[in-house]
Amino acid sequence: MARGGGGIAVIPTSPEQARNRDTHYPYRADSYFQYLTGFTEPEAVLVIVVGAADTSPQSMLFCREKNLEREIWDGFRHGPEAARDVFGFDAAHAISELDSKLAELFANQPALWFAIGYDAGWDRRIATALNTVRAESRTGKRAPATIRDVRAELDAMRLVKDAAELAIMRRAAEISTAAHIRAMRFVAPGRFEYEVEAELLHEFRRHGCEYPAYTSIVAGGANSCVLHYVGNDQVLREGELLLIDAGGELNGYASDITRSFPVSGRFSGPQADVYSLVLDAQAAAIAAVRPGATFADPHEAALKVLVQGMIDLKLLSGSLDAAIEAESYKRFYMHRTSHWLGKDVHDAGEYKEGDHWAPLTSGMVLTIEPGCYIRPADDVPEAFWNIGVRIEDDAVVTAEGCEIITLAAPKKIADIEALMRDARAH
Ligand code: GLY
Ligand code: MN
Ligand code: MN
Repeated sequence: MARGGGGIAVIPTSPEQARNRDTHYPYRADSYFQYLTGFTEPEAVLVIVVGAADTSPQSMLFCREKNLEREIWDGFRHGPEAARDVFGFDAAHAISELDSKLAELFANQPALWFAIGYDAGWDRRIATALNTVRAESRTGKRAPATIRDVRAELDAMRLVKDAAELAIMRRAAEISTAAHIRAMRFVAPGRFEYEVEAELLHEFRRHGCEYPAYTSIVAGGANSCVLHYVGNDQVLREGELLLIDAGGELNGYASDITRSFPVSGRFSGPQADVYSLVLDAQAAAIAAVRPGATFADPHEAALKVLVQGMIDLKLLSGSLDAAIEAESYKRFYMHRTSHWLGKDVHDAGEYKEGDHWAPLTSGMVLTIEPGCYIRPADDVPEAFWNIGVRIEDDAVVTAEGCEIITLAAPKKIADIEALMRDARAH
């Protein structure tokens, strides 16, 4: 927040969401709010007041009050006093006081920082508080003249992870790689996709992940070519590939891993061809991750390998440059190679600065996830039909290059086959 002139920021957490009648979706605090507070109860708002120059900012939490009756039904609430002491806010108040306090706090602040347009209810609530101040203008009160989107500042902060965040992300990765190994050991012809999903969830939860970071994709055979397949209700057959894109969320931080492997435990020739190509593309992308490179460099490195491989496998014709220029590869590779990873699986942070791709700096975390998805078509060799491969790892940018925090999940063909053979033998 701009210092000197002062200002006020309002950062609410997420609302609870009804699923049906008296049942709610599992509650998850808003990512910005939890990033700044660590507080995970619903019905809470952080207010930060920055005074004029040379005064330190004041943090203020509004949260639910203690309520024995509600705590008997729904569980523990900190209440403002304990929340202030445990989480280190400068002040805390009951959430019921928020609207009147906001109008008081807004008065004579030059600037308001808020996630404008994110939630219509909050837009109205903020407008009401602003109008309350404006209605008192004859008493000399002024409403903030400038309203800025607080997300721009917070996104930049969230993009570079500190040591504590990275420690949590490494642990989330460790749990999630264990889940992929568990799934590889479990898979066999005749199992259903949802049975494999259950193995993943079991492993996430038994190690303390609060939730999966996103709905697990367990996609056998033709489903492996559906990028966001989440039906997970089909039987796995001998001869098919299985693509699993799944990661746990731990202490509010996501892991995001994809492995693709044969249901039978042995890659066929065409499956191995496509798989090896994607693995080579991933290696090229990983080699391009280092400080000073840009966000687009890993994608461009992966693309060159993938497109040349598609030409070699006769999926595409013409030259490498022509195929890249014409984007004919998009038929088989239609997504990008990376996204930021953090509290959100597609995490906060700009990808471009003006016209230029964002430079990578130490502490950023991004996924490296090339793929190749081959749907049946007359002009495609039948041997490749319904082969969908994605290989996805999570990379932390370091001082020299990058650290892949998800390496424990096997991805060399020989390692996957050995693991699955071993699982069958026992
Ligand atoms: N699991 C979502 C993604 O890979 O982007
Ligand atoms: Mn991803
Ligand atoms: Mn993924």
